Amino acid sequence: MKTLAWLEERLGLEPVLKLVEKKTVPIHRHSIWYYLGGMTLFLFVTQVVTGILLLLYYRPSSDGAYESVQFIMGQVSFGWLVRSIHSWSANLMIGTLFIHMFSVFLTKAYRPPRELTWISGAVLLFLALTFGFSGYLLPWNKVSFFATRVGTQIAGVVPGIGTFLLRFLRGGDDVTGATLTRFYGFHVAILPAITALFLGVHVWLVQKQGMSLPLGEDESQVKTMKFVPNFLLRDAMGWLLALGLLAALSALFPWELGRRPIPSLRLRPASNRNGTSCFCFRRSNTSLLEWRLSMATCWEFWSWAREPLCGFSFPSWTVKPRAERRAPCLPPSVGSSSFTSWE
Ligand code: HEM
Repeated sequence: MKTLAWLEERLGLEPVLKLVEKKTVPIHRHSIWYYLGGMTLFLFVTQVVTGILLLLYYRPSSDGAYESVQFIMGQVSFGWLVRSIHSWSANLMIGTLFIHMFSVFLTKAYRPPRELTWISGAVLLFLALTFGFSGYLLPWNKVSFFATRVGTQIAGVVPGIGTFLLRFLRGGDDVTGATLTRFYGFHVAILPAITALFLGVHVWLVQKQGMSLPLGEDESQVKTMKFVPNFLLRDAMGWLLALGLLAALSALFPWELGRRPIPSLRLRPASNRNGTSCFCFRRSNTSLLEWRLSMATCWEFWSWAREPLCGFSFPSWTVKPRAERRAPCLPPSVGSSSFTSWE
């Protein structure tokens, strides 16, 4: 209490404390979805903490990265646990992030005045996926090396700017040490800075606007719960369970390191049986067929992903009050799919 009074005298925290005191959360049959954003936030913070610990030993170079991760897994006290928690929480976070997005979508919580909350969330989703993509290369093992090759090829098929994107991401024509240095920079500096900004905006908007009520719930009838301490304590219970799950997953299935990539592996032109020029992977078992398959996959992915991606980034915000509505209002790109809106 003395500390609080000391801080109050210097910082004038009264408005913040009043806001915390006033904040309430509606209680109804869909309140469970309100925990998903907080869970995503908790997993993100876990990522940041374990990521900082990994930084103490990780070396971002093509001839040191793999060995440094090997050192973390085998020599550093609890290094295996920190790395495994980092990797498992990254995967769980993508899961909770998608559930959070779908729950917000299906409860139509993106309605005015929450457009900016949705847009900042969509940016956060993109950033989270980019975190995963850039982090995947860092152990510099065989799988991550090839996955990055295919992943950057996907970026390469984006109409118009594909070639630029591919070279920008790879730092050249192929995945090399330059790509690793670049991805390291994205992963530990650029992405965290941008994410902190958008996360700040997202959470601030949620605080400012309060939690939305699903359509069909009557505001005057709905009971509420205080955010501090009631909702926050329930949130904390969930976080504790998540921490237990992370520890169990890491102990039972420690994150693997995989095999080192062959350093001399390069994508270079060669002749096929007819004597015409083709691209194939020399010094590896990857055949021309695999190369074509990966290109087809890239195109397939882009054709499949562009519509929902664009749709989810810009949902239809023109939801009329219940009485005026005739048909369910879904974002145009999703309306034709099997989604149903519960109203
Ligand atoms: C790192 C990623 C994210 C974090 C940490 C995060 C965090 C949060 C938190 C703590 C809340 C308040 C509690 C809740 O409703 O669950 C919230 C609400 C919200 N989020 Fe997110 N979020 C993220 C991503 C997203 C995404 C991808 C979208 C959608 C594209 C989104 C859209 C929204 C909306 C519209 C609300 C307001 C919900 C309401 O008022 O009922 N968020 N978010």
